[in-house]
Amino acid sequence: MDAQWLYSAVILVLEALAAVFVYTRNSGHRNGFVSPPGLFSIPFIFDDTAGIVKDFAGLVQERFKKLNASCIQLTIAGQKNYFIRGNKIVPRLLAAEHDIVEAYWPSTTESLLPRGVIAYHHEEHAAMRKLLNPAFSMKASISWLPKMVAIIEEHMQSWAQQGDIKFQKSCQHMTFEIVTNVMLDFPDSFLKEGRLEQFMDLYRTWEDGLFALPFRIPGLALDKALKARDALNKIIAANLPSLNPSSAAEREGSKVQRTALQEIYRAPADQPDSMEPDRQTGLALNLLFAGYDTSASTMCYTIQELQKNPQVMEALRKEQQQVRKEYGEEITADAVSASPYVNAVIRETLRTHLLVPMVPRRSLVDLNVDKYFIPKGKPIWLDIGTATKYDERWEGQEGTPLGLERYNPDRWLSEEGARMGNWLPFSGGPRICLGWQTAMLELKAWLMLLARKYSAHVADLDEKWVLSAFPVYNNGMETTFKAL
Ligand code: HEM
Repeated sequence: MDAQWLYSAVILVLEALAAVFVYTRNSGHRNGFVSPPGLFSIPFIFDDTAGIVKDFAGLVQERFKKLNASCIQLTIAGQKNYFIRGNKIVPRLLAAEHDIVEAYWPSTTESLLPRGVIAYHHEEHAAMRKLLNPAFSMKASISWLPKMVAIIEEHMQSWAQQGDIKFQKSCQHMTFEIVTNVMLDFPDSFLKEGRLEQFMDLYRTWEDGLFALPFRIPGLALDKALKARDALNKIIAANLPSLNPSSAAEREGSKVQRTALQEIYRAPADQPDSMEPDRQTGLALNLLFAGYDTSASTMCYTIQELQKNPQVMEALRKEQQQVRKEYGEEITADAVSASPYVNAVIRETLRTHLLVPMVPRRSLVDLNVDKYFIPKGKPIWLDIGTATKYDERWEGQEGTPLGLERYNPDRWLSEEGARMGNWLPFSGGPRICLGWQTAMLELKAWLMLLARKYSAHVADLDEKWVLSAFPVYNNGMETTFKAL
């Protein structure tokens, strides 16, 4: 029996017990507020389990539709989870991080990511963000731009030489290299002799454990992931210039200017901002976890949309012809700023394909949402996907080019697009994605190079996928990639 089946079987048993328990309990009223609706029937045990393993976000959307409420509940592995939807309440709760809600991850995720930023709470989280935010500002991201562009160009040239590529894997490889080599500043020698590939393989074993059952049984996902984490930490410690003098010497030799993040990593131990070695390796794992698959998946969605909407690619190429005339061949910060359509395409892809459709939280107080009551200490999921897609700016525009169901980058160049609204692919509040400005710059540089020099044709636009941390295409998204 493989681990996936064992996982489903254990969840099924836990849910059967939980459903009996839940079914016999009165959901109750409190001061006129009622428990959010859920489906407490025996079939729910089965479709719930299958749905969570197959398509968690899809299952939740289906439940919202069936129950027609702004807040619903769903029992996962025996525990009541609450899902909240709404254009006003979701941003409000994001902003109330540390006071009304706090980030809440499964215990396996917290045990695999104990240090860094994602699993920190309250003062520790606020202090870490205060330290890290300047290192991921727009100014800091621009300092990474030349190196990011060089890596993207090298990968694209190699894709064009190969002709037929597995697009998802190729993008993952490229974005993983960007985090490792550009942000973490691993020496160039690390990229040679297949060491990056070995590192990535180990990383995937670790990643497979993030949402596994919280039992450490030899040979199962959590055990393998914890062993992989120890090995990853050793490799990270051996390559971070702040922890290894020979990496530092190689970096000095390359005359690459130190960036704000590297300054933080290398703060002397007697300074208040210095980080102990295990915080440094922990942060590196946080950045890999948050920063490579997200960007790679956005690239996959973008080329699919470009193929479905050839007029968009045409408009991109036209804009880039003009930008090249004015700013030359180099992808500089000015050239990026002079490319509003590139920005619009990335914004529209992230509006229509939210990679992280819901963010996990826990209630720190008894909470009232509309007429519903959520007790303190319960897991909550904030539906940032629906708040983004069904932004009030686009309401009532059905049947027009700005209708919210349409993929239309032009909406971001319209009057409504310039207004404030809900665009939350990077979430919001004190936990807003640390790397959002860097990610936008990376994606824009990638799209500019694509529009200027290459064409891509995806073999099967309806290719099926399975859910891992993000959707994984069954066939890797086979694509023919050519130089123009
Ligand atoms: C298209 C690309 C990306 C998307 C859509 C994305 C989205 C998100 C989302 C939705 C969150 C959750 C925030 C919450 O809990 O409310 C997050 C957190 C985070 N992201 Fe990103 N992200 C992307 C790229 C990156 C990159 C390139 C980095 C940097 C290497 C990064 C670093 C982080 C970190 C460190 C966190 C945790 C923040 C915290 O807990 O304080 N992300 N991201």
